[in-house]
Amino acid sequence: MVNHLAIIMDGNGRWAEERGLTRSDGHKAGARQIGVAARAAMKAGIKYLTLYAFSTENWKRPEPEVSCLMGLIQEFAQSELPNMMRDGVRLRTIGRTGDLPLASRMALEFAIKQTEKNDKLTINIALSYGGRAEIVDAVNKVIAEKRTTPLTEADFVSYLYAPDIPDPDLLIRTGGEMRLSNFLLWELSYAEFYVTDTYWPDFTEETLADALASFGGRKRRFGGLNKK
Ligand code: FPP
Repeated sequence: MVNHLAIIMDGNGRWAEERGLTRSDGHKAGARQIGVAARAAMKAGIKYLTLYAFSTENWKRPEPEVSCLMGLIQEFAQSELPNMMRDGVRLRTIGRTGDLPLASRMALEFAIKQTEKNDKLTINIALSYGGRAEIVDAVNKVIAEKRTTPLTEADFVSYLYAPDIPDPDLLIRTGGEMRLSNFLLWELSYAEFYVTDTYWPDFTEETLADALASFGGRKRRFGGLNKK
C-alpha cells in the first residue's frame, strides 16, 4: 500500500522540444498535469504526494525559465485553491522557500493556511529544495539550539522540513533518467523506485496504475528478512 508517493516530474523540456515549443510551454503543460496526478493519487488511496517542482540547482537555469516556473507556482496556488478546498486537499511546501519571489510566497502561504485542516490528501511541493540543503539546514537548527546531547535518528527527523510527514513508500521519476537529483536524500532511504520514459506532461492515471502495480510486486524488507 502506497501511503506516500514522491514524484520527480522530469521531461517537460524534452516534451516541448519534440513539439517545437518552448521549455516554458513544457512547464505550463507540466503544471496542468499536477491536478491529474493528484486526482489519480486520491483515487488510489494515497495520502501524501510530494512533488519535486524546483530544486536548489534550478536557480542556475536561464532567467525567463525561472520566472516562468515561479509564475506557474503562484498561479497554481491561486487557481487550484477552490479545487483543493472542494476535494479536501492540504497544501504544504518543503525547501528554502524564503528564496522565492514575494508574490509566489504569499500565494503559497495563503493556500497553505486555507487548506491546513483538509485531510484527504496532502500535496507537498518541494521548492528551492535540495536534499543536502535540507540536512545542512537541520544541522544548523541543532547548532542554533546549542543542543549538546546526542541525537537519535528520530530526534534528527524532528529538525527536517516536514517531520510530521511519513517517509515516501514509492518514488516515481518520469523522463527516463535513473538518478535521484538531490531529492529527499534522508526520506527516500527505504522507498521503492519506479522510472518511466513517459515525460511528465504525458503522465496519466495509467502511468500511476503501472507504477502502483510494479510496487505491488516488490518485497520490501527494510534491510531485514521480513516479508511484506
Ligand atoms: C523538469 O523538467 C521539471 C522541472 C524542473 C520543473 C517541474 C515543474 C512543473 C511540473 C510545473 C510547475 C510546478 C508547479 C508546482 C505549478 P526539465 O525542464 O528538466 O525537462 P528536461 O529534462 O526534458 O529538460
